[in-house]
Amino acid sequence: MKAIAKVRPAPGVEIVDVKEPEVGPGEVKIRLEAASVCGTDLHIYTWDNWAASRIHPPRIIGHEFCGTIEAVGVGVTDRKVGDFVASESHIVCGHCRQCLHGQGHVCVNTRILGVDIDGGFASHVVIPSQNARITDRSIPKEIACFQDALGNAVHTAMAGPLLNQTVLITGMGPIGLFAVSICKAAGAAKVIATEVSPYRIGLAHEVGADVVLSPAEGDLDKRIADVAPGGVDATLEMSGHPSSLGLAVRSTRPGGRVSLLGVYGDPNQSVDMNSVIFKGLNVQGIVGRNLWQTWDQMATLLLGGKLNLKPVITHTMHYTEFQAAMELMKAGKAGKVVFTFED
Ligand SMILES: NC(=O)c1ccc[n+]([C@@H]2O[C@H](COP(=O)([O-])OP(=O)(O)OC[C@H]3O[C@@H](n4cnc5c(N)ncnc54)[C@H](O)[C@@H]3O)[C@@H](O)[C@H]2O)c1
Ligand SMILES: [Zn+2]
Ligand SMILES: [Zn+2]
Repeated sequence: MKAIAKVRPAPGVEIVDVKEPEVGPGEVKIRLEAASVCGTDLHIYTWDNWAASRIHPPRIIGHEFCGTIEAVGVGVTDRKVGDFVASESHIVCGHCRQCLHGQGHVCVNTRILGVDIDGGFASHVVIPSQNARITDRSIPKEIACFQDALGNAVHTAMAGPLLNQTVLITGMGPIGLFAVSICKAAGAAKVIATEVSPYRIGLAHEVGADVVLSPAEGDLDKRIADVAPGGVDATLEMSGHPSSLGLAVRSTRPGGRVSLLGVYGDPNQSVDMNSVIFKGLNVQGIVGRNLWQTWDQMATLLLGGKLNLKPVITHTMHYTEFQAAMELMKAGKAGKVVFTFED
């Protein structure tokens, strides 16, 4: 079969011909219908310090995908041939303290598809059955494929109240854009978005942000205070830009929450901790998706038909056009790039 792989420890990825994987006990084999490109794939493509320290080539990349189950391994009782499924990229151990306490999203033995083991940018992929999340066929494959990323946004947004809340979302990458739509669907009173890229500012308007602000246009603190006097109820930090951290602490009302999903180039960041304390802020680190609560919440949101996700899918192309996809992502001229796998 054909697959997109990191073949050697250097920039780039290529199409390779490899043996179709065989299904083992507890696993399912999926025939790909669609996949989507994540920022992580771009890190692997450009071969930055993180990728060089984590990836051991040869490695088939890709962790956001959907398709149909073609075979199930010994012992699999909860999935069957013909099921439409989407990937959960975090493979957890099931026996560490966190897993045993229902906190699989922070499993200490997590292995990530397309990073630590072979992923799904291929005609077929084999994964543990529980990582193949059954998805209703009414969900278009162009949307079903990116539930792993959508789940990051669901997890972050749902980590506190949304109904009638004023929410600030910093960073309108695909996950920030998803979060706008989720907050609106869940009844937020007002969603304020920040973004630097004019292209993504346009997408933020399309997904329904009430106010979109660019740091390039001056005093963000004042402009947020103008539309949210007294502060926002919640800030979802989805830019990974250090300046958004201080902004979150300053702009969130006393007693509000700050949910942090963005990952920082330099992990050592400083914020006014006394403000965090005296404002009584609820600051949360968010990783992955709650297993499996986030997936159930996501299914309800998707089937409810209230999510406005189409504007985020800016490009659909055959997976053999992966070079063009990576370059689009690199240039920041894309929302989600979706791959198709028809012959
Ligand atoms: N914690 C997790 O489990 C997890 C999972 C996936 C992604 N992430 C992180 O979440 C973040 C969002 O992911 P994504 O795929 O949407 O990333 P992305 O890089 O596509 O989006 C980030 C956006 O923030 C914008 N931005 C940069 N500086 C800004 C600023 N000062 N103010 C406002 N916006 C600014 C960028 O232009 C970009 O559009 C990233 O930092 C990513 O690494 C975390
Ligand atoms: Zn991803
Ligand atoms: Zn575990």
